[in-house]
Amino acid sequence: MSANLVFVLNGPNLNLLGSREPDVYGRETLDDIAARLSDQAEALGLAIDLRQSNHEGHLVDWLHEAGARGALAVILNAGAYTHTSIALHDAIKAIAVPVIEVHLSNPHAREAFRHVSLISAVARGSICGFGAQSYALALDAAVRLRQ
Ligand code: DQA
Repeated sequence: MSANLVFVLNGPNLNLLGSREPDVYGRETLDDIAARLSDQAEALGLAIDLRQSNHEGHLVDWLHEAGARGALAVILNAGAYTHTSIALHDAIKAIAVPVIEVHLSNPHAREAFRHVSLISAVARGSICGFGAQSYALALDAAVRLRQ
């Protein structure tokens, strides 16, 4: 069991944060977010393992890994796979670790194809619309899952 470990998994195109549609996603890079989250985790007595991939199967594998290692929680920004991936839905169901869905933007206030999330129904909860702060709020939620 890794009771203090929180995986922070990021899906497609999130490697481009900072330069990708800054009006929507802000100017902070994923490295900026990782650095701040690391400091926050340390203050909370947690460790984070932040990863990004543009490949759906990597995210599936990492969810399985979080399950096998008995992580405290997974914070998941699945990017566009949020709206399409039955494989991620099934992987979340297959593990005992609670998953917190995050988004920088508020998908419900955007195009109709973003209004459906295949993650939400199997996530412990969802946080969206607060920019990079969505991740910080998710980490605060994760620490409260510790018994
Ligand atoms: C996103 C929202 C998704 O709709 C989009 O495809 C992304 C980013 C967000 O963080 O706001 O890639 O997950």
